[in-house]
Amino acid sequence: MRNLWRCALSAVTLTAGWGFMFSASAQIPTLTIHAGQAVAPASPIFYGLMTEEINHSYDGGLYAELIQNRAFLNDKKKPADWTAVVGGGAAARIELDPGQPLDRAIPTSLRLQVTHASGVHPAGIANDGYGGIPVKPHTRYRVSFYAKAAAGFHGPVEVSIQSADGRTVYARNRVSGLTPEWRKYRTELTTGNVPETAQARFVLALHQPATVWLSLVSLFPPTWHNQPNGFRPDLMRMLVAMHPKFLRFPGGNYLEGNTIAQRFKWKQTIGPLRDRPGHWSPWGYYSTDGMGLLEFLRWAEDLHAQPVLAVYAGYSLQQQHIPPGPKLEPYVRDALDEIEYVMGPVASQWGAMRARDGHPRPFPLHYVEIGNEDFFDRSHSYAARFAQFRQAIQARYPNLVCISTLGTEAGQWAAIRKDRPAMVDEHYYASARAFLTDAAHFDYYLRKGPQIFVGEWASYDTSYPPWDRRSRTQPPTPSMKSALADAAWMTGMERNSDIVKMNAYAPMLVNVSPGMRQWRPNLIGYDALHVFGSPSYYAIRMFSRNFGDQILQADLPDPNLYGSVTKDSRTKTIFVKLVNPHAAAQPLRIRITGTRRLKATGLAITLAAPPDATNSISHRRNVVPKRRTFGGIKPVFNYTLPADSITVLRLKES
Ligand code: AHR
Repeated sequence: MRNLWRCALSAVTLTAGWGFMFSASAQIPTLTIHAGQAVAPASPIFYGLMTEEINHSYDGGLYAELIQNRAFLNDKKKPADWTAVVGGGAAARIELDPGQPLDRAIPTSLRLQVTHASGVHPAGIANDGYGGIPVKPHTRYRVSFYAKAAAGFHGPVEVSIQSADGRTVYARNRVSGLTPEWRKYRTELTTGNVPETAQARFVLALHQPATVWLSLVSLFPPTWHNQPNGFRPDLMRMLVAMHPKFLRFPGGNYLEGNTIAQRFKWKQTIGPLRDRPGHWSPWGYYSTDGMGLLEFLRWAEDLHAQPVLAVYAGYSLQQQHIPPGPKLEPYVRDALDEIEYVMGPVASQWGAMRARDGHPRPFPLHYVEIGNEDFFDRSHSYAARFAQFRQAIQARYPNLVCISTLGTEAGQWAAIRKDRPAMVDEHYYASARAFLTDAAHFDYYLRKGPQIFVGEWASYDTSYPPWDRRSRTQPPTPSMKSALADAAWMTGMERNSDIVKMNAYAPMLVNVSPGMRQWRPNLIGYDALHVFGSPSYYAIRMFSRNFGDQILQADLPDPNLYGSVTKDSRTKTIFVKLVNPHAAAQPLRIRITGTRRLKATGLAITLAAPPDATNSISHRRNVVPKRRTFGGIKPVFNYTLPADSITVLRLKES
């Protein structure tokens, strides 16, 4: 449907593709698919994921750690997110103690001074996690913490998961052997036949008066593939189901930081957790960096997706920049080291470091993004910074594609066009209406320009753009209205997936518990216990799982419908995507030329719901796709698109 579906202008000025020919039969529009006519190859890495620490995507999200502020670094003045467990005669005082740091990276600790306590009424500290500690029956949790004690106290320290009021203990265990030196302690908590709840807290308590210092207090539930320091399995399942071909990380604004000092310093995100200081993120909260560079890479590997690595390029959000030239060189070297950590052999300095961290095998890396949204840099230094990075990276890694963050849509495009970046990252956030209006956006792109990475896109369905704080009063994930617009937008990208090589919705994740988000709309929502996909999530999933390697010529006369057709040349499957964003069902005649060997039955996957329908943490599967086989497929057959629907038809040549 590329090109000719788009509009009269494109039919005149561009040649191949998607049509605007009005069919002779007046009422029922005819979609003509030229099954034997591939317009161009479709990108093999078209659908992927964009990710960063926003909305508690990692801490309180994918990164399965359950304790909030485990290293007591979130707030310099007080042990935020922790409370003292006292009462019934038990008494304790808790304070930050920078005088007893764990080490250089974690320059403080929590001092727990218990003045009264007993076995019946222990005193200690409690943490509610990120919107409650999720309790599940017959589940094993891994506990670890660093501790030291004032002379004379050796334990025990009791750890437990208990109800928020402390009356019900779901699992408990003990650790002993504390000394005046910092040591790491590990134990497990296993629940029995308990009810599922997130109205729970983690408690670490003493049965007698004593003083102990604590750091890196950690509680992990079972993780994806049981990996230590791993990922939340329910979220991973949602992502795996999207069949992503790439993972762009670590941001986004998160890469840049508000200031140069607060950028994503990858070297501080690798190795043991006690060597990771974490940092303040531009989204207004402290990041533990438990989700560090190696975890990002492992995540991509687990998803069978290739990493798209964004390297810090000398610009931070508060208009700080490093001038190109000698001052930028250390940052260029840092990026080279980072690339070596990702893909260098074990014999290299940073490849050896990766091996030390547990992953000797280099990761496959083909794309490196230089910065993020540098069109915001008012010093207009990006073209020169990009050139300096690209020159150094390609001198060492000639096959790496360096992606420019100034795209053809950006005001400063002219500044970089002459440098002919091979690929540019373009971001599109617009209202659902604008997405529908602009769904043919890429049909107009000349084929001679750079390849396009739509590294962030999303339509919004309220009157507030995502960056408007008022949008935070709206539901965290989009409704069907957005899904329809998003699907229409995707058909436009698919039709042009000879030049639009990659695309990703953003942001991907949101913790919907109170106070945890900075943006809307977001693709996937969750709280401590549950996960749900928005209608847009299902639209993307339907599209990415049904995408061929060839873009087929297809013509449709109705400018109110949106679509694209691709074909998997190996399995001879034709994927027809159709979006009807209107309140009435739309009958369609489908004419398929160029093949005589169509199977009579096919598969229809449909997402249909009124525009205001949506999913939420309490109604997680309100809007989900339905699959059905359908018959009567012939060279010409009729198919009715339901009102407000997104449809994928899988047709097969025999
Ligand atoms: O996706 C949210 C933010 O939008 C990203 O961090 C940034 O790149 C864009 O402005």
